[in-house]
Amino acid sequence: MTMQYSKKVIDHFKNPRNMGKLKNPDGTGKVGNPVCGDRMFVYIKIKDNKIQDIKFQTLGCAAAIATSSMITDMAKGKTIEQAKKITRQDISKALGSLPPIKEHCSNLASDALKKAIKDYQQKKKI
Ligand code: FES
Repeated sequence: MTMQYSKKVIDHFKNPRNMGKLKNPDGTGKVGNPVCGDRMFVYIKIKDNKIQDIKFQTLGCAAAIATSSMITDMAKGKTIEQAKKITRQDISKALGSLPPIKEHCSNLASDALKKAIKDYQQKKKI
């Protein structure tokens, strides 16, 4: 069976944006995918209530890499409130949809971003 990935998914998988680690992040989100056991980290830097910088690391499949790349692209420069509103559907739409069996991989990216924001807010006691 061949997996149907959109051109955008393949592009983000082959040339991931914002991959790596941030030094002294203001927030870190770590999630594990219960379905496959893959893991993902999202790091954020906040300035003036905006996501100034964001990076991710993932031990995951092509879809997990593509969705992380896309969500970091979408979240960069956004306010915390805007970034929190990025939904799983938004990512999958922006990527031109994902094969249904890969939907859980896109959940990973949005959950990791939300956790990173929560981590930041807890540290700042917001
Ligand atoms: Fe594990 Fe996609 S199969 S994140």
